[in-house]
Amino acid sequence: MRTFKKMTLAMSLLGALSLSAAEVEVLHWWTSGGEAESVGKLKNLLEKSGHTWKDFSVAGGNGVNAMTVLKSRVVSGNPPTAAQIKGPSIQEWAELGVLSNLTALAKKDNWDKKLPKQFADHMKYKGKYVAVPVNVHKINWMWVNPSIFKKAGASIPTTWKEFEIAAKKIKKAGFIPVAAGGQPWQEATVFETIVLGIGGPDFYRKALVELDYKSLNSPTMIKAFDTLRMVKSYTDKNAPGRDWNLATAMVYKGEAAMQFMGDWAKGEFKIAGKKVGIDYIAIDAPQTSGSYLYNIDSFVMFKQKDTDKKQAQEKLAELIVSDNFQVLFNTRKGSVPVTLGVSREKFDDIALRSMDTLNSAAYTKQLLPSMAHQMAITDAIKGAVVDVITNFYNTKMSSADAAKALVSAVKSEM
Ligand code: BGC
Repeated sequence: MRTFKKMTLAMSLLGALSLSAAEVEVLHWWTSGGEAESVGKLKNLLEKSGHTWKDFSVAGGNGVNAMTVLKSRVVSGNPPTAAQIKGPSIQEWAELGVLSNLTALAKKDNWDKKLPKQFADHMKYKGKYVAVPVNVHKINWMWVNPSIFKKAGASIPTTWKEFEIAAKKIKKAGFIPVAAGGQPWQEATVFETIVLGIGGPDFYRKALVELDYKSLNSPTMIKAFDTLRMVKSYTDKNAPGRDWNLATAMVYKGEAAMQFMGDWAKGEFKIAGKKVGIDYIAIDAPQTSGSYLYNIDSFVMFKQKDTDKKQAQEKLAELIVSDNFQVLFNTRKGSVPVTLGVSREKFDDIALRSMDTLNSAAYTKQLLPSMAHQMAITDAIKGAVVDVITNFYNTKMSSADAAKALVSAVKSEM
């Protein structure tokens, strides 16, 4: 008996040794209610696998603050083990030679088959996987409080013309038509949605992905700026500086009728216990039906000397692309799975509509990377473009001057 006990003890020690538990420090910016609950699922899974999660969260929507903190950590020679980075920044970081190569794991796990090619390409540098995708968010949504529309006798708009008619009625009835967060990235989010609606998918691609000067400074772009100005006139005076999740709360608390925001907003409605169809509705932002502005969250792993840490990084990446995590996370976060073939069973109607649009948009050339969410252009150019939008939004700059300024901004960063 005693020998048997000794043996099991020795075996469990061996097991613990081969597990090589390591601490994984993860930089992310998921700090709102819905975001924190979602990332908590990843933490649980990692810890169940024997590793330790060291949370390195930096508050601030869109990751603007997180990226600043990350740069200073890397410059001081102390990068986190993993960091939430996306779009062309992935290739920029890879070029510095600081990212772990995840290709061996990707081969073993068949990522090339698991991921749509367009999305897999975002994760690669010179053909090698250097990032792991978490989800797909759709940007061009409009979140609606249906009872405000009812009280105001307004119809839910599908065009910007209809929007103006509805917004007037809502304002007259004593409600705030649009819940806005006056932060540059939020203004840019609304703007790119407007550009897609006013110009259509080809124009969006030419202007905000390919940065074609003629499209940037064009009558269509001027019209998009005019529309942004019009939308702003239906926001409240306390918008400057407001966080996106507080704007979402204005919709479900019955203060504001609409919010233009990506589907991470759904995470907030859900965690507040709100019922879809009763307390809130999600429809495509005006004139954008059929198009899908996508935003993929992803993690990169910083190179490690320690083999235990390397193993832990691989474990984290493996968990992220697992079906189990894709369901646990995305049903909370508001996004949809980035991997193919995940069961649709646990997803709500909004997510199912997102998945269907994603599929059809891919075939109709309406699947477009979000500029405001770092998917389309380098961070430096994006910063310059967002500065123009914010300048326009917060001053009396004319739409024609803003369109011209877009070209100069892009040229200055080329
Ligand atoms: C990220 C989302 C996040 C949102 C607000 C976006 O850029 O992709 O995951 O929820 O910012 O912070």
